[in-house]
Amino acid sequence: MITDSIFSMSGKPADIPAISAICKKYGAILMVDECHSMFILGKTGGGIVEYFNLNPDDIDIVMATLSKAIPASGGYIASSRKIINYLKHESRGFIYSIALPTLMCKVAKEGINIFKSERAELARKLAENTRYFSEILRADGIDIGESVTPIVPILIGDSNKAALAARKCQDNGLFIHAVFAPVVPQGQAILRASITAAHKKADLFMAARKIGMIVRNL
Ligand SMILES: Cc1ncc(COP(=O)(O)O)c(C=O)c1O
Repeated sequence: MITDSIFSMSGKPADIPAISAICKKYGAILMVDECHSMFILGKTGGGIVEYFNLNPDDIDIVMATLSKAIPASGGYIASSRKIINYLKHESRGFIYSIALPTLMCKVAKEGINIFKSERAELARKLAENTRYFSEILRADGIDIGESVTPIVPILIGDSNKAALAARKCQDNGLFIHAVFAPVVPQGQAILRASITAAHKKADLFMAARKIGMIVRNL
């Protein structure tokens, strides 16, 4: 079975404990795309396993990108020696594509080193910043769904209104984009905010208040 750990537009988690239990029951292999949870979720950024307090062996294949929380490019797969060996010899993308550039490997390695030395503090700051930003929007009456990650969807609905809101936000100095169908279902367009551990409270406050004002006046 293959699933995302976190759905990228809503920020909602897949029920990995239930999915893992079904896989165990039927002897299926579980592969989880942790592009939106690894280095982010859990007390020390350990990902979906830490978030749900699972045993790492509950997930057979973890894949994640090196282009989001780790600001390089490329990605990785973590699994048993047997599966990695199989992928090395059978995956077309690995065999026929040019390898990850050395520079990007170095950038990714440096990012991972920073993560390793500050992971608890970074995860705490990220969660705190996300909570702070979300609470201001909610207090302003803005519907932001039920994300458990720094992806904060601002639910708009109509595509034209979402495009207009994004343009107004950008005109006000905010780097935020609208997302339309088919990335989200028709009629469920959003603005998609991404919070980082490096954001300052004053900037988050300013951004949330501006977004609130723009969305309420659409
Ligand atoms: C769930 C998910 N998986 C994988 C990727 C691929 O990331 P990249 O091609 O940047 O490594 C993305 C990118 O947005 C994603 O959202």
